[in-house]
Amino acid sequence: MKPPLLCEKRYDVSERDNGKRAHAILMGEKNRIEKRMEKLGLSLRLAREEDIRNIHHRTRESFSEEAAQGISLYDLYRFIHHGYPAVVVDRDGEVLAYDLSISYDDRHKTSYEVAVAVDSKLSGHGLGYLLSTYGAILGWERGSRVRKSSVHPLNIPSVKNLLNYTGFHGADFIPDFLGQMGPRLVLRMPLTPNAILNQGVSVKAVKQFVNTRAKDVEYRLLRCDAFSEMVKMYGESRFRVIAFIPGGVFHDGPLFLATSLEP
Ligand SMILES: CC(C)(COP(=O)(O)OP(=O)(O)OC[C@H]1O[C@@H](n2cnc3c(N)ncnc32)[C@H](O)[C@@H]1OP(=O)(O)O)[C@@H](O)C(=O)NCCC(=O)NCCS
Repeated sequence: MKPPLLCEKRYDVSERDNGKRAHAILMGEKNRIEKRMEKLGLSLRLAREEDIRNIHHRTRESFSEEAAQGISLYDLYRFIHHGYPAVVVDRDGEVLAYDLSISYDDRHKTSYEVAVAVDSKLSGHGLGYLLSTYGAILGWERGSRVRKSSVHPLNIPSVKNLLNYTGFHGADFIPDFLGQMGPRLVLRMPLTPNAILNQGVSVKAVKQFVNTRAKDVEYRLLRCDAFSEMVKMYGESRFRVIAFIPGGVFHDGPLFLATSLEP
């Protein structure tokens, strides 16, 4: 878990809280996200087999050709039938945004966020973050207790959403993922109501933390493109990337804030 001082506590749920009240709060959050989409004239629902072509189209529009090839029609078929991909569709059924998530049969029933995409004409509405949270809640409802994903450290809209809003932290850093996907932060978050709702970090809280805490003892700042430094940090220390800091706050370029994690 991230240091509580940095986190925005939106709901009063504890780490152990997994009962009826937590369920009701998460269902309220899911409902709030669905309503936000309705206000934009869109609907958010689980994907169906007839969406496969439209999801594939969205993938090819949003990702590079190479990245899009990583999500085939057959993958989508399996995600839809055995996972819980959520799509945002307009009145004509066009898929404008999605979160593709699936759970695995390991000890924690890991919920894996394979991809999030939002049509650029809808950017600025927080859809990426809302969909990522929606996928986390769907995973939790199905019994997953850990959520994982990975992100390129220079995919700025994504790192901002996933670290600062959804609540992931960088559990590991791999400089050349699978020898073909470039540098990747391996993301993780406990899938508890507390983590889903209360691991967001605001830039304001980061500023206050950095200005009042001991550099290199309680936190580290790294340039988002400092890949060798990240390898060293993950190999030799307990510091982990927990938040994104936009350019212009402490440095001309974007930075990551790293701290140690709490149990
Ligand atoms: C990643 C993606 C889903 C994000 O969609 P989105 O939520 O609509 O993104 P936004 O444009 O609202 O940007 C998200 C946040 O990053 C911020 N941001 C974007 N570019 C930024 C930049 N260059 N510097 C600082 N902040 C930046 C935005 O201001 C926003 O933060 P805010 O809500 O606090 O203002 C979308 O960009 C996308 O589909 N990308 C292509 C596919 C992809 O890379 N998916 C992720 C990997 S699986």
